[in-house]
Amino acid sequence: MTPRETIAILDFGSQYSQLIARRVRENHVYSELLPPDVSPQRLRDMGVKGIIFSGGPASVYEEGAPRCDPGVLELSVPILGICYGMQLACQILGGDVSAGHSREYGRVRLHVDRPLGILSHVPEQISVWMSHGDVVTEVADCFESLATTDACPVAAVRHKSLPVWGVQFHPEVTHTPNGEQMIRNFVYGICGCAGEWRVENVIDAAVTDIRTQVNEQERVICGLSGGVDSSVTAALVHRAIGDRLVCIFVDNGLLRRREDEMVEVTFHDHFGMQLRVVDAQQRFLDQLAGVIDPQEKRRIIGHEFIAVFKQEAQQIEGAHYLAQGTIYPDVIESGHGPAGKAAVIKSHHNVGGLPEELGFELVEPLRQLFKDEVRLVGEALGLPENLVWRHPFPGPGLAVRIAGEITAERLELLRAADEILLEELTAAGWYRKIAQAFAVLVPVASVGVMGDGRSYEGQNLCVVRLVESRDFMTADWVRIDYNVLATISNRIINEVPGINRVAYDVSSKPPSTIEWQ
Ligand code: XMP
Repeated sequence: MTPRETIAILDFGSQYSQLIARRVRENHVYSELLPPDVSPQRLRDMGVKGIIFSGGPASVYEEGAPRCDPGVLELSVPILGICYGMQLACQILGGDVSAGHSREYGRVRLHVDRPLGILSHVPEQISVWMSHGDVVTEVADCFESLATTDACPVAAVRHKSLPVWGVQFHPEVTHTPNGEQMIRNFVYGICGCAGEWRVENVIDAAVTDIRTQVNEQERVICGLSGGVDSSVTAALVHRAIGDRLVCIFVDNGLLRRREDEMVEVTFHDHFGMQLRVVDAQQRFLDQLAGVIDPQEKRRIIGHEFIAVFKQEAQQIEGAHYLAQGTIYPDVIESGHGPAGKAAVIKSHHNVGGLPEELGFELVEPLRQLFKDEVRLVGEALGLPENLVWRHPFPGPGLAVRIAGEITAERLELLRAADEILLEELTAAGWYRKIAQAFAVLVPVASVGVMGDGRSYEGQNLCVVRLVESRDFMTADWVRIDYNVLATISNRIINEVPGINRVAYDVSSKPPSTIEWQ
């Protein structure tokens, strides 16, 4: 992999660890989460420019609490300890940490005594975000306290001879308004980074890496789904190896309206990529006939997808590699991340399975990128805005948005309603503000007035689901303008014969999930 200026983040289990990594990257410096006990040698080999110790839920004086190798503090590489990370650094270097007299959670006033280093350009009195029970009660002589709060005698420190800094509060969260400045102070002022993590460099490095990995005689296959990650992957691989990339788009009949058209226009017409569109609609419908159980739908769709993809891939001569749109949070969440113990969150979704079965070598150019970085890369590569900013769409597609059996008629109804929903959200400027928006078809015989009579026949309920979410692990329903909802509802009922009632889903996750099935 192309070497790059890196800040390592030792992850002691904080809920904010990924956020720290993103904050550093927003400063144009690559950052990577690593296990807390990573060896000093590995950090040396990586040539890291700085190290951040994250916060964490443990207490440093507890048995079994995660610790770093003390040798890390002797690398002469600048270190910033945050919360637990600061307590650990102070403890290793001779300070005392114990349970505080009063815990601090939330916004707290910080008094800056010495605006140096990490606190450069920070006013004397600021508000910071705290979340801790333990405090450093006594710093060793080799440390100097830089700031205090009412409950915390040592809220920021620096070591007198080593490049070790610590803050008890969380500069990475937006609730610490001067946090951005502090991260900048660390990255540039203390670590002396040059700030090379920019979209053009990211693209150049990815292109170089792909060219190095992929043998000149061989070809790469990429399964396009119409989503952001696979699209950006295809665009990057295409830039690296041109016509040796062959994209496969499986139309399973469970897609949104005109999805196939958009993929053809973008990848074939605009980029001139080799694209194979497989019309497998009937095949999927046949397999799904009479199936009501959502997990069974998922299983069938996953299984059928592999079968269709395999069939198509086998016809491509010299194909040795499979390009996949795995992104950094997927890597962390699937347990390959730093602590190695992160929950396998996405296992119920259709990740995994495909590569091993097919025996391809993987090409994963987005493995180190966060979603917002993937979008920037997509924009820079010239992908259309509506593709780059689209909401996530589940692999099993509309099948998990129709309660009950999947039929061609129901799919058509849902597509029509879904299209109206997205059109109206976009027109009203809401689409980009929402994490995920979709319609759900609930085939219950809801009564309607047709002309002068009451009618139940062929009528369905359509539920509109709009959620805001940062990571899709938790979500809340969007407090959207009623007038926008009114237009959506009117249009769906008037323009989609077969839907006579629209409801708005006001459930949060948890306890509900985002999808209905
Ligand atoms: P839930 O419904 O679990 O959804 O709250 C969280 C996120 O995951 C997506 N999702 C899926 N994605 N295959 C996928 O590729 C699936 O089977 C699947 N089920 C849910 C969902 O759209 C949301 O973004």
